[in-house]
Amino acid sequence: MPEIGRIVISRKGGGRINSGVCSAFLASAKTSSILDWMSLPDGFRYLPGHFDRTQQTALAGAILEAAKTVPFYRPRMPRTGQALSVTMTNFGPLGWVTDKEKGYRYEAVHPETGAAWPDPPDLLTRLWDEVSGYPAPFEACLVNCYTEASRMGLHIDRDEEATDAAVVSVSLGDKARFQLGGPGRKDKTHSLILSSGDVVVLGGEARRCYHGVDRIYPGTSTVVPDGGRLNLTMRRVTIPA
Ligand code: SIN
Ligand code: FE2
Repeated sequence: MPEIGRIVISRKGGGRINSGVCSAFLASAKTSSILDWMSLPDGFRYLPGHFDRTQQTALAGAILEAAKTVPFYRPRMPRTGQALSVTMTNFGPLGWVTDKEKGYRYEAVHPETGAAWPDPPDLLTRLWDEVSGYPAPFEACLVNCYTEASRMGLHIDRDEEATDAAVVSVSLGDKARFQLGGPGRKDKTHSLILSSGDVVVLGGEARRCYHGVDRIYPGTSTVVPDGGRLNLTMRRVTIPA
């Protein structure tokens, strides 16, 4: 990886400065430049390769083990009942769920089996402590499973009361093209290729910005045994007492 790509890739609200190789970013976006990076929202942090291969494999294994009691299910949009193209499960005391009847919300149990969501792996608890800067633990860790055909439309995470807490996400398996825009749906978006082991933190202004995944690159990783991509998203839901 050429050293020429090494620049600061953290905006000032994001806590301690992190640097990393951003050549994937530069290669991925037709118009990327240092100026584009400067227009990223404060509080956005990208930690490429935060987890090594052994840790990635352990996380993928923990998810597949959890899926024996809280299987990946097909969530549905509120009102229309349209199926999402990802399947989902969760770790933690709360899990993010959605269905036609009750819409987006957090629940303590799996919507189909009624089983409690399992405790998150220690690697995630440690990650949250290291990067969130939040004085209370995360409560929900949503696990999204992407196939080649899956997408996540541009959205803002807004089902949490604790919007002062960053959202911390981990990518495992196949590469994905992540989009990060601004607080307005029509704001310019940046594209970033996320690889297995990468961590993204949406804190500060970035916490209120549109983001999504518009492409999966199949066959680009062997970390997930059956292929595809797993994304873990940690969130604090309630305001700590
Ligand atoms: C999300 O924001 O819901 C998922 C982001 C990702 O898959 O990287
Ligand atoms: Fe999100």
